[in-house]
Amino acid sequence: MTAIKFTVNGQPKSLDIDPSTPLLWTLRDHLSMTGTKFGCGVGMCGACTVHFNGAAVRSCQIPVQAVSDAEITTIEGLSESGDHILQTLWVELNVPQCGYCQAGVLMAAAELLKRIPDPTDEEIDAQLSNICRCGTYPRIRAAIHRAAQ
Ligand code: FES
Repeated sequence: MTAIKFTVNGQPKSLDIDPSTPLLWTLRDHLSMTGTKFGCGVGMCGACTVHFNGAAVRSCQIPVQAVSDAEITTIEGLSESGDHILQTLWVELNVPQCGYCQAGVLMAAAELLKRIPDPTDEEIDAQLSNICRCGTYPRIRAAIHRAAQ
């Protein structure tokens, strides 16, 4: 066990934890923040996407020791009360279907819009490789385009 300190959604955290524990399980099991989802566990699906010092990462692939002194933002911290422009548009355009992958999609989309404020469909597809088994990709693209306006 090692003491790891980092910040989650602006709140300082200090955990005595196996440093190899994936950030995903640190968030879910040690901090009871279950908005970040487990999909594949091997970095392929994007359900576990969070922001690591502002960059979108797949938290199942990041050992918690790597985030020492870093800032992590999860879906719980994307906005104060679920009113991020993308969250508003997700509701307005009925983007989610089953909804399981959408926390990760939202985190990836929010980071994309910070880097590329008005992305093309090709840029969205290239940068947002999260898997949605319901196939909501057209609505995800539409919401990102609306957010860019
Ligand atoms: Fe992390 Fe699928 S659970 S990428």
